[in-house]
Amino acid sequence: MQKIILVAGARPNFVKIAPLWRAFSNSNGVEVVLVHTGQHYDDVMSRVFFDDLGLPEPSYNLNAGGGNQAKQTADIMTRFDEVLDKLLPDDVIVVGDVNSTLACSLVSVKRGIRTSHIEAGLRSFDRSMPEEINRLATDAIADLLFVSEKSGMKNLRNEGVSEDKIHFVGNVMIDSLVFAADAIEGSKVAKRLHLDSQSYALVTIHRPSNVDDPGRLRHLMEWLQQLSQKVPVVFPMHPRTRKSLAVTGIIADSIEGDFPDLKIVPPQGYIDFQNLLKNARLVVTDSGGLQEETTWLGIPCVTLRKNTERPVTVEQGTNFLAGMKLEKAAEIVDSCLAGTIKNGRIPQLWDGHTAERIAKVILWKTEVDGIRTPDL
Ligand code: UD1
Repeated sequence: MQKIILVAGARPNFVKIAPLWRAFSNSNGVEVVLVHTGQHYDDVMSRVFFDDLGLPEPSYNLNAGGGNQAKQTADIMTRFDEVLDKLLPDDVIVVGDVNSTLACSLVSVKRGIRTSHIEAGLRSFDRSMPEEINRLATDAIADLLFVSEKSGMKNLRNEGVSEDKIHFVGNVMIDSLVFAADAIEGSKVAKRLHLDSQSYALVTIHRPSNVDDPGRLRHLMEWLQQLSQKVPVVFPMHPRTRKSLAVTGIIADSIEGDFPDLKIVPPQGYIDFQNLLKNARLVVTDSGGLQEETTWLGIPCVTLRKNTERPVTVEQGTNFLAGMKLEKAAEIVDSCLAGTIKNGRIPQLWDGHTAERIAKVILWKTEVDGIRTPDL
């Protein structure tokens, strides 16, 4: 039996591991074990995603949430090492670019366990982002690199990664969208929030570059207030953003009380969030995943960042990189509202079958290389 550990730690990871869980569970001779690092621990950031995506309870929860970057990474490493001691897996699969991705791949590669990175090769070329460091370091050490868009192939080749490690398989996040399409259609969230289809802007902001500096965050919140005079703004607020608002003195009363024109709601589950997304007139965000999901759905997306590690969403999709200047973002929003925007197209292999392709490659490699003999 080939034993494969799937690692997930933070919200975007859950969406990526669900299709992998299905693909490997449907394969003969494979035992899949789910390990949750606990990086995201609130019900709304974690539990609901397992329910919505049909994922089973993780076999292990490392409860390594909170703390600064170093402590979080170190806690995950120590606790994951103990799990590997017990399980002696043949494969470890990590996804995305969060601290859990790097922490678990470091431990696993050092123990000589074949380690696969899903969503490899993406680069923002901005080393001030913790995610960029996680991407660079994980790709430098992982054994198999599964790439979601062509830019990732180019980046890995430029970094001198050998061809036999790199596999262009498409975007596993889209698998989840395709899988959950009916449930997303059936969500009643818009009704609950009194929103009409195509009538509102959906906003998510949580990157350190936007929310950790009080001046920037205040400016952003004021800008969103202005935006709400043009179009209703729905803002499911990430815990990091909520915490920043609370500690920076921006809030006099309560977040909702200080910004009455914004519809600030808690983070939404996967199904409800995707329904909000699908019915939005436009999206304003600094998220990575949303740039991809809007591209697949053909919804205009204004990204409040200087760069994107997902250039295909700008080159082929409906994403606009606004930079950090909010005046520029306002101009793009105006053209989105006026309907004078480009039409996007769906990037290659974003077809709902990426996890199956990944499983095929990993199982084929096992046939070629054999599986590690368990310690007897
Ligand atoms: C992390 C990822 C980021 C991803 C984002 C998605 C890293 C470096 N960053 O950022 O790439 O886009 O997740 O959400 O891994 N918190 C809660 N409840 C939770 C989770 C977090 O209150 O369920 C708090 C933490 O304790 C911390 C803050 O929110 O104070 C930020 O959490 P953290 O995991 O450090 O990073 P994110 O900003 O969520």
